[in-house]
Amino acid sequence: MFSALEKTLLASTILLAGLGTSAPTSLALAQDAAPTAYLGAEQWPQVASPVKKDQAVEQKIKALLAQMSLEEKVGQILQPEIQFITPEEIKTYHIGSILNGGGSLPNRNKHAHPSEWLAMADAYYDASVDTTDGKIAIPIIWGSDAVHGHNNVIGATLFPHNIGLGAARNPGLLRKIGAVTAREIRVTGIDWTFAPTLAVVQNDRWGRTYESYSEKPEVVRSYAGEMVLGLQGVPGTAEFLDVNHVVATAKHFVGDGGTLRGDDQGDARISEAELRDIHAQGYITALEAGAQTAMASFSSWQGKKMHGNKYLLTDVLKNRMGLDGLVVGDWNGHGQVPGCTNASCAAAINAGVDLLMVTEDWREMYHNTITQVKKGEVALTRLDDAVSRILRVKIRAGLFEKGRPSSRGVAGQDGIIGSPEHRAVARQAVRESLVLLKNNDNLLPLKPGQTILVAGDAADNIGKQSGGWTISWQGTGNVNSDFPGGTSLYQGIKQAAEAAGSTALYSLDGSYAEKPDVAVVIFGEEPYAESQGDRDSLEFEAGNKKSLALLKKMKAADIPVVSVFLSGRPMWVNPELNASDAFVAAWLPGSEGGGLADVLVADKTGEVRYDFKGRLSFSWPKGPLQDVLNPHHDSYDPLFAYGYGLNYQSGAQPLAALPEDVEGVHKGQGETVVLFSGRPPAPWQMFIDDHTTAQIISGPYAAMPSGAVIAQTTDKDVQEDALKVVLTGAKPGGVFIGGGEPLDFSHFLQEEGILAFDLKINQTLGKDLSVQLSCGEGCLRAVSVTDHVRGFAGQGWMHVAIKLTCFAQAEDRFDSITMPFRLESTGAADLSFANVKLSKGGYANLQCP
Ligand code: BGC
Ligand code: BGC
Repeated sequence: MFSALEKTLLASTILLAGLGTSAPTSLALAQDAAPTAYLGAEQWPQVASPVKKDQAVEQKIKALLAQMSLEEKVGQILQPEIQFITPEEIKTYHIGSILNGGGSLPNRNKHAHPSEWLAMADAYYDASVDTTDGKIAIPIIWGSDAVHGHNNVIGATLFPHNIGLGAARNPGLLRKIGAVTAREIRVTGIDWTFAPTLAVVQNDRWGRTYESYSEKPEVVRSYAGEMVLGLQGVPGTAEFLDVNHVVATAKHFVGDGGTLRGDDQGDARISEAELRDIHAQGYITALEAGAQTAMASFSSWQGKKMHGNKYLLTDVLKNRMGLDGLVVGDWNGHGQVPGCTNASCAAAINAGVDLLMVTEDWREMYHNTITQVKKGEVALTRLDDAVSRILRVKIRAGLFEKGRPSSRGVAGQDGIIGSPEHRAVARQAVRESLVLLKNNDNLLPLKPGQTILVAGDAADNIGKQSGGWTISWQGTGNVNSDFPGGTSLYQGIKQAAEAAGSTALYSLDGSYAEKPDVAVVIFGEEPYAESQGDRDSLEFEAGNKKSLALLKKMKAADIPVVSVFLSGRPMWVNPELNASDAFVAAWLPGSEGGGLADVLVADKTGEVRYDFKGRLSFSWPKGPLQDVLNPHHDSYDPLFAYGYGLNYQSGAQPLAALPEDVEGVHKGQGETVVLFSGRPPAPWQMFIDDHTTAQIISGPYAAMPSGAVIAQTTDKDVQEDALKVVLTGAKPGGVFIGGGEPLDFSHFLQEEGILAFDLKINQTLGKDLSVQLSCGEGCLRAVSVTDHVRGFAGQGWMHVAIKLTCFAQAEDRFDSITMPFRLESTGAADLSFANVKLSKGGYANLQCP
């Protein structure tokens, strides 16, 4: 007989068996269903790039192509990720390009010095131009996500994320930001940035809303070209793609911000006219500015994956809108096209993807593509076209003449990274991005001679104020010392307050010895990026209003409160607005916290130094469910409309109390508590341990010094939603969630709740594997699952569900859980897990393992 646990395991194994990377049938059908009729490319705008085809360049491309073997051509169209390829392999396979993904750093060193980046760029370059095998030299091109400054690099100037820049409504500023970013990138020897994002986000539940300048196409359109000019330089002048500039990427083509539920990599079920008139507007000015590359979107349009959409990539973007540079795919985005895998995808090449971002499976992709060309599944003319486009970009970028990365212009001059001049531009951007939503009794600006209490968990936290795509992919795991030269919002207020003869006191939890005149409470969303930032509701801190509690504590003590709210999107914050006298939406300002104080704190004579300039580039919701809220909708009914923003000069009407009991507000205890989905909810952290010591997993990779336990992020349903753990067996060890305030699981225990997760035994399972939790000092509870899971080794994902009662001993109440989850292996093991959660309802009959 099978136990219930085994049945769950079996059922899900059967469910998952044979799934591979393709989607279930119904989904595959939907994906194949192409739109009934296209408008036709001639209905799209024609764009004249200022970068004209040059005869000499075209001759050079032809000459190079004539000397390349099929193998060299295929190598040229692949873009592996630096963790998965060595310089030696670049040489052997004649690889055309590499990328470093978010949080993927040279030598896996979070504090990699710019010189380490540069040495790596040199090594890859040298390998690409090594002709000792008798083949021709084609310099490699390295791309990186410098999306708000050169954000993977320690000490870089970090600009506000795009949503904040959108509020500034200052296209000229965008050009300056592009130029500064390009210079910092150049110091590290990198040639190309995957920016700007030109999404026109319509549903704010999407976790990439902050990468969008605005929900309005006009704003995106007015910015895109300027950003490209800043990054690449002005075409037709000597600065164009010179040693101070980098190649830009218009991404993600097209409709990424128009998906049905604001879901990452989702489906935009909209008309072609809407796709063009809303979502494609930024591409027009980007191409008019000479953008050399575009990235295909992960998303689908009308059920069809963009990576497989020849009409939009080739007929529209290239042939009609005139992109004669290259289309790069997104991170294994080709693998999502029906019939494709990460390692094989003729369809994406045929649709018009020129350079495949094939991160890890590039070796198989190389062999498969060669075979496909030989069999005619990919026409040689298409391959030649793809290679020509890549070569065109490389030639225009001067890669054939510029020499080794370290010999180019400002390379290696690390004083340029985070220089005072660069930081001044970012500080200006912060100032201009702030949107004042409420200022009752003219509480702002802060007057001279005050005692200012600065409180809240975002007040002195540069990681939190910088958001996702900051050193790590999701922006998690950073502390202030990871930002040398940066300024927290509190530090900025302190400097300005002292200059004005005021005193600023910092207190995380709002405690004080002497009653302050005013409190500035700084709080907001924890950092997130793609996928992991998608939300079901726009309610801020649903179910746990800890920031609100802090505001109320101040109000109860009769202290006037200024709220500074950090977020990657507008959110429903009526209770927080009501509990504040003044309220500033500060978005994700980046490393230059001084910009906030420039506007908030008056000078010592009481004069305003800088007025508010920011205006909402996204509409602010009246309720948590108003996630699609855009001026062009008939039912448009925002709390603060697009364009709203108060300033000192015009003054403000007092904002009356707002309703707090509106539809969709979260009530009571949840039925499900998510403990891990890519990462644990903050402030909980994931750790590895070898029984004696433990270590936080803060990036994509972590290892115990003993080498006995190694953890690496990996993918189950979306990127990096799972963790792979390898134990050598030298010592027992494990992986656990810890570091937060004790949790109350008692209702899950009483109501037959379960602890559940997805598990994959990759290879070995040496000895005992157990699931554990800790209910306080001396209260460790474990359930062994060894016998139940061993048989599934090598067979893909299974679902494991264990009732909490299986963990409990007689007196246990589980009302103070200090470690909600640990997986321990006493022997060697290689396994992955994902989606750890507690649920209740309907599990009474489940047996214990
Ligand atoms: C990388 C990111 C990348 C993502 C793919 C991560 O592993 O670090 O840079 O964007 O995967 O979506
Ligand atoms: C993201 C892109 C990014 C790429 C490389 C993807 O997951 O969607 O925006 O450029 O990874 O890191």
